[in-house]
Amino acid sequence: MNNFISVGDVTDIEALIKKALFYKSNPFADRKLGADKCIGLIFLNPSMRTRISTQIAAQNLGMEPIVFNVDKEGWALEFEEEAIMSGNTVEHVKEAAPIMGKYFDILCIRTFPSLKNKEDDYSELHIRQFMKYAGIPVVSLESSTLHPLQSLTDLVTIREELESGGANPDRRPKIVLTWAPHMKPLPQCVANSFSQWVNAWGKAEFVITHPEDYELDEKFTRGAEITNNQDEALKNADFVYVKNWSTFKDYGKIYCNDPEWMLNLEKLKATNSARVMHCLPVRRNVELSDEVLDSPGSIVSRQAGNRVWAAQAVLSEVLKNWTR
Ligand code: CP
Repeated sequence: MNNFISVGDVTDIEALIKKALFYKSNPFADRKLGADKCIGLIFLNPSMRTRISTQIAAQNLGMEPIVFNVDKEGWALEFEEEAIMSGNTVEHVKEAAPIMGKYFDILCIRTFPSLKNKEDDYSELHIRQFMKYAGIPVVSLESSTLHPLQSLTDLVTIREELESGGANPDRRPKIVLTWAPHMKPLPQCVANSFSQWVNAWGKAEFVITHPEDYELDEKFTRGAEITNNQDEALKNADFVYVKNWSTFKDYGKIYCNDPEWMLNLEKLKATNSARVMHCLPVRRNVELSDEVLDSPGSIVSRQAGNRVWAAQAVLSEVLKNWTR
């Protein structure tokens, strides 16, 4: 693996899941793999889980992580080619990325979509410009349209749950991705990415449910069953992944914000004692009720804890192919 931007960079999803679970039991097994290497974690927007888990993962592999919060501590970056920089941006990615490529051995980037310019967001302008100009491996810590480290974590958590439940780990679970209300327009990244990974994994019955007008980009959802009937979707579900996203077609809008879409214990009765997942942060009693989040069926904390092992599995694959 040279870069990690989407599931397309992974040759064997199941092997990567197993690698993450191996690191969970053996965190320091590859302590020397990243010795004398420096990894840059560049954030253009806030983060808790991604930042800390990737730092720990890098340290477990013997690397020196350096975190740089560009949004708070750096010069405002310009990404457009041939930009006339007479506005708010101070430094072009054409200068910033190659300099980071000299300082670091691996570059990890967290960006966010504008939710205004669909073309720029869905062309992944920010991360592609870093890949073009940095000259070193680039790992996505969430981009404009995808969050692959989160999605790998999600599959690791599902696999772990299937195995710890004593079930046949090869049983096809029913996984439901359900839209949840939110008062702010949020990116489609987590939902896009989760859909892309579950479809590529191919080991589950996968259903996506959302209100009308919240269709995601088909290139990520193709292969899933899609319905506007949440109650129907939840029937016999083994895993319910809860997430808000803003509209894709009429880009970045909030159409419906019906609180009836918030998952509660009553709705979960239709499931197969489903485990409830969310990438976090979560708005309590808006996206998910207290009663669900505080119930034994919620695995959101374990899911977030698994971010370390997913990041460690990915970084170890990048290190194995690393050449200067
Ligand atoms: N799930 C996730 O990416 O969390 P952070 O935004 O805190 O990194």
